[in-house]
Amino acid sequence: MFGARCLLRALRSCTSAPCPRHKPSARLSVRDALGVRSTNGERVKVQGWIRSVRSQKEVLFLHINDGSSLESLQVVADSSFDSRELAFGSSVEVQGQLVKSPSKKQNVELKAEKIEIVGNCDAKDSGFVHIHTPIITSNDCEGAGELFQVEPSSKIKVPEENFFNVPAFLTVSGQLHLEVMSGAFTQVFTFGPTFRAENSQSRRHLAEFYMVEAEISFVESLQDLMQVMEGLFKTATMMVLSNCTEDVELCHKFIAPGQKDRLEHMLKNNFLIISYTEAVEILKQASQNFTFTPEWGVDLHTEHEKYLVKHCGNIPVFVINYPLALKPFYMRDNEDGPQHTVAAVDLLVPGVGELFGGSLREERYHFLEQRLARSGLTEAYQWYLDLRRFGSVPHGGFGMGFERYLQCILGIDNIKDVIPFPRFTHSCVL
Ligand code: 4AD
Ligand code: MG
Repeated sequence: MFGARCLLRALRSCTSAPCPRHKPSARLSVRDALGVRSTNGERVKVQGWIRSVRSQKEVLFLHINDGSSLESLQVVADSSFDSRELAFGSSVEVQGQLVKSPSKKQNVELKAEKIEIVGNCDAKDSGFVHIHTPIITSNDCEGAGELFQVEPSSKIKVPEENFFNVPAFLTVSGQLHLEVMSGAFTQVFTFGPTFRAENSQSRRHLAEFYMVEAEISFVESLQDLMQVMEGLFKTATMMVLSNCTEDVELCHKFIAPGQKDRLEHMLKNNFLIISYTEAVEILKQASQNFTFTPEWGVDLHTEHEKYLVKHCGNIPVFVINYPLALKPFYMRDNEDGPQHTVAAVDLLVPGVGELFGGSLREERYHFLEQRLARSGLTEAYQWYLDLRRFGSVPHGGFGMGFERYLQCILGIDNIKDVIPFPRFTHSCVL
């Protein structure tokens, strides 16, 4: 399918771009192309990623880079080459003549005769750049200590005590790495496996699950963040419903009758917003007897979250501003009191409870410095603190558990039924 798409893309660029028959072009790296001093009309081929696009009435300028040089190569093309796919981040193969540039900015430029899109960059459409965050990491983003440590098997001899010189773990979240990248790309996301050594046999916890995480720079309010979260839930769900109608209907018909209507109810209503303090009040006034007594300063349990969603008419509800003491060091201090809170947000959905967890991040150097010091994390997170020293901006983000999302839209009660190889305490089959 992907291959077919690439083929179509390549075919499209072939027909739209006239390709004279010349002898095969020599492949050059961007660095080598930039290094050419005297041009003799040789045809060359350069491959790389588009760093900028400037479209004028009759001419199109692209800057492409393949990592071989800090400088990019200017490609000059006829405006007939212009297309939506020639966008920042797309990878291209350009064939043409290397000529002396009339501009003083560069010695040579590539006069394009053929431009082929190798891979287009769809992320551009929504403005989010896909980042591959590492699976092996030395940080505990959530600070909850639910880490799986990574070490070579005892048969492998490593001179150092630790393979990586520092203790390394399977990631619990890509957030901190996304925060680094959001300083360069403004809006970034990652989607990958996440691991938690949670000793839980519940119907919504796995030791290995998938999470989609987003990080957005220049976000100053939870309101803006919640808009993105609600938009993601609704857009993704509508796409699943229209692209995988039969699969969804099968689940709804045989496993969760009535789920179709419940889902429509979620999609057509605006999600609600309550504060953590209001949530605790609602729970205290509930006629239902909870196993865990609700109290300000204590985390919400699944039974509380499910009650809150029912109380809100089975419309997803954002719970915001949680007690500072309950949340990780990176969440932004609301500087309120006497009940001290942070700008955290969880989205609770029918049947599951918490589906998203997010927050504004503490971007203020001195606030973060103090929080890290209080948690004894100053040394380990010096690099993270440094991000606040150089051009720090207000930012925020969130993570959504993919299996919980499937539970929510398909109406599946147990998380182990939405993943082919569930991993949880005492079970790692196959
Ligand atoms: O609320 P969490 O722990 O948030 C974070 O990890 C943030 N660093 C994300 C961010 O801001 N970038 O986890 C996010 C979501 C939860 O709301 C839940 O849906 C899912 O991940 N999740 C789990 N899903 C299955 N099994 C588990 N053990 C899960 N733990 C969290
Ligand atoms: Mg959470």
